[in-house]
Amino acid sequence: MDKILILDFGSQTTQLIARRIRDLGVYTEIIPGDSPLADNIIAPDVKGIILSGSPESVNGKGAAPDRKIYDCFRVNNVDVMPLLGICYGLQRMTHDLGGKVESLQHVEYGRIEVKIKGQGSKTGDGIESGEKKIKISGLTEKFLSRFKDSFTAWMSHGDTLTELAPGFYEYGTSATGYSAVVAHEQKPWFGLQFHPEVTHCEDGDRILGAFIFDVCGCEKSWSMEHYIDELNQTLKERAAGNPVLLLISGGVDSTVAGAALLKALKPDQVHLMYFDTGLMRKNETEFVRKSLEKLGAKNLHIIMCGEEFLSELKGKTDPEEKRKIIGDLFITIQEREVSRLKLPDSYLLAQGTLYTDLIESGKGVGKKAHVIKSHHNVASPLVDAKRKAGKIIEPLDRLYKDEVRRLGRFLGVDEEIIRRHPFPGPGLATRILGEVTREKCDILREADAIFIQELKNRKNVSGEISLYDDIWQAFAILLPIRSVGVAGDERKYGFICALRAIISSDGMTADVYPFEARDLIEISTRITNSVKEIGRVTYDISSKPPATIEWE
Ligand code: XMP
Repeated sequence: MDKILILDFGSQTTQLIARRIRDLGVYTEIIPGDSPLADNIIAPDVKGIILSGSPESVNGKGAAPDRKIYDCFRVNNVDVMPLLGICYGLQRMTHDLGGKVESLQHVEYGRIEVKIKGQGSKTGDGIESGEKKIKISGLTEKFLSRFKDSFTAWMSHGDTLTELAPGFYEYGTSATGYSAVVAHEQKPWFGLQFHPEVTHCEDGDRILGAFIFDVCGCEKSWSMEHYIDELNQTLKERAAGNPVLLLISGGVDSTVAGAALLKALKPDQVHLMYFDTGLMRKNETEFVRKSLEKLGAKNLHIIMCGEEFLSELKGKTDPEEKRKIIGDLFITIQEREVSRLKLPDSYLLAQGTLYTDLIESGKGVGKKAHVIKSHHNVASPLVDAKRKAGKIIEPLDRLYKDEVRRLGRFLGVDEEIIRRHPFPGPGLATRILGEVTREKCDILREADAIFIQELKNRKNVSGEISLYDDIWQAFAILLPIRSVGVAGDERKYGFICALRAIISSDGMTADVYPFEARDLIEISTRITNSVKEIGRVTYDISSKPPATIEWE
């Protein structure tokens, strides 16, 4: 499958470059910008390389790519690897190839007009650059002809090119007069000082599309159908008839991973294990069981271990201690139950790891990306041992979250699971402040189920989608204090339940969901009417930062 390699120098928009190109139908892979490139990484499926932006300067701490990118040969119709430098990427190429980059007096930031020169380029007689008329190659001409004479681009840079590298010429400048588009006279090498991947950039997709299709000659081969065919083949080969065990949480990722295994392998070969820790949402376990059976699961191992968790958590109020107890116990039970299955040593362990998880944990893809899960997910000796033995399968490791959802739909996973809000591993223990007891779990389960049901039944302000689908994550929290209320003629001390609903794209930051007051009031009334232990409902209006999403 054709692939575009993206060298990540730390820009916040590197992921966006990858997404845009995938959306255009071509597979992308991000690797750290300074990775040594083995010949087999470069060829033959890599059809072009993009050098990303960076917060650093080429004259400072900015990393340099392996020099091989400038002289690696391609097997197909062009004999030089096509390169596209974006922002720092362009400055990097200029610096590496003998040009000059210096800092600007004033940073160029935001929407900026770019003007294309070289009128002749569109008629095939070369382009004018200063005094010179330059004859350019057909490929370059094709790429450059996709640019409008002037367009609004988006920039963010503190350095600029003050001298182009030999063989390069300037094709477009920013309104402030700095190089904005440069190209090599003979080689398929280009540089953009602006960010075509950012939506504010006019025609950004067309420019990226021109690079990947016209210059690199990529086929549109990144489609779900194609991915499924390839995945089936890979999973069959990797499993080679051995059993595969997948630990299921009930969330989107592990369920889609399970569906992929069930589709590719014989149902008997696939073991799915799920732990009911007693800290699950209302009817969760039954829901998970039904969904997996619907997907064809035969070896479904549902482990009921709520008693063990609740008894270990008894009397514990410190949030970190609670987390540690849950993490440790989870590992103990996992080891015990897996060994009880008596699978042969040759069994493989599957995981629902996503492409972004690999990036976040720094496993060779993208160095500077944020870490969202490392503080959440407990390292498991079982997973470590299997990884060391080379017996881990990760069917989703090339996909972004929305691609996982699309794959799930193709594989027949229930829409309800696909659209599910995230749920933390330690479950309700992060939402019951103070000591966790069965009674409190039951109370919270009821309140949370009412809240979620109401969100599913109510429409957002546009009237087009449900509140649930408009919200990234919503849940109820139980506070460890009671407050006074009235029930009939009597004073009653009931629990306080807080509601949380946020909008986010990755959980790293979050905004409060702006409910209509009427929705909140009606939901609160339903909760206090139906859950007698709850006397008061509040709505959390804190963003992240400074607050986190979970209360703990
Ligand atoms: P915080 O509370 O850190 O949460 O703002 C960010 C996102 O992560 C989820 N979360 C977890 N997910 N295991 C998980 O898999 C955990 O231990 C965990 N703790 C928090 C949280 O629900 C939110 O989506």
